[in-house]
Amino acid sequence: MTSFYLSKPYDPPQAPENLPLDRPWALLGGISPQKFMKSYWHKKPLLVRGAIPAFEIAKQMGEPLGSAISPEALFKIAGNDVVESRLIKAKPWSFTDGPFKKKSLPTLNTPDWTLLLQGMEAQHPAAAKVLSWFRFIPDARLDDLMISIAGPGGGVGPHFDSYDVFLIQMSGRRRWRISQQKDLALNANLPLKILQNFKVEQEWDLEPGDMLYLPPHVAHDGIALDGGCQTWSVGFRAQSYKEMLQEGLWRLAESLEDIPELERRFADPKQVATNSAEQLPAEIIEQIAQKLKGLKLDRVETFLPGIAAYLSEPKPQAYFAGSETQYSPEEFTLLLTKQTLTPHPQTRLLALGKTIFCNGEDMTSGQARPTQIAWRSLAAKKQVKGAFGGLTAGSSLFEAFEAGWLVF
Ligand code: SIN
Ligand code: CO
Repeated sequence: MTSFYLSKPYDPPQAPENLPLDRPWALLGGISPQKFMKSYWHKKPLLVRGAIPAFEIAKQMGEPLGSAISPEALFKIAGNDVVESRLIKAKPWSFTDGPFKKKSLPTLNTPDWTLLLQGMEAQHPAAAKVLSWFRFIPDARLDDLMISIAGPGGGVGPHFDSYDVFLIQMSGRRRWRISQQKDLALNANLPLKILQNFKVEQEWDLEPGDMLYLPPHVAHDGIALDGGCQTWSVGFRAQSYKEMLQEGLWRLAESLEDIPELERRFADPKQVATNSAEQLPAEIIEQIAQKLKGLKLDRVETFLPGIAAYLSEPKPQAYFAGSETQYSPEEFTLLLTKQTLTPHPQTRLLALGKTIFCNGEDMTSGQARPTQIAWRSLAAKKQVKGAFGGLTAGSSLFEAFEAGWLVF
């Protein structure tokens, strides 16, 4: 008799702190994260049967597992106006944005509908835990975890995404059909992004615990085979180069505000008499070249803080309520010795060497050492606890806690 203990509802395991990147992982079908990144990531699809072995084990024990989040809980979340939700119906295609009242949502066995809920890591701890399994991929690339729940026949139609995505089957079965076709033209007459000519190349029925990884631009269509079919999609975003450069340059331009020396006016006592008055003077060109060099504006490192700050911006719809209880910095310091402080699920953290950016702001430059150490732990381990000396009211850690960016 097997002696496994599986929690009900299923409680996904926590990712270990030091990920064994060179060892086979069940989640990746018995290959290591290193091999996955080398051979599949951003290159080709991968179907993994039994990516979450708990489902298979439970089935063998005669006690099949359900999703960690019930349909009722999902319907309730769909009524929350801070959650991005969409209801898509097929035959004919239509779509509506949430929030949705429970009464306006179809019953699980009604055919041809699907409800999509974005940013679920902020709504349910099981979704946040599933995201933590993918920390062998840089946080900067992570978008969010979307959950779809559908009636039989429900889906969003054949389409492609610009993102890398891991589609994890969590409840019921879904038939995935994919194609690496070049023709990605969309049907202009539909309210949804649906491919004009979808030519199926491969097809699989995914059972709970199975997973399909798709790189960007692989055409796909997932159709629910059972009522209450749940697919959890872990999505990885990629900005355009234009967006990253523009956002980095913006922030760099703003940072010049802090350099008083640049307020000085252009001076050209060495200007010589000229026959080509219409030309931009060599004096300006030379002096600007000097300034660019002096400010290291000719070096990539100078642009990186702006880009890191940008990539650490939370989603536009993120909402932070601020801490419920008012603590003094002393009380906060004491609490930190007893309880674990973690980022709010909608907080984004990103490190550039030892500098930590949180929700678009540099949290460590000019801060006292204990504050810096706490932030590094938060960025790397998503948690911090311990004795950090007297954190003052000006500590960015205390301020982020007060703003609700960090929570006990
Ligand atoms: C779904 O979960 O139904 C849709 C996910 C996708 O195809 O991007
Ligand atoms: Co898709």
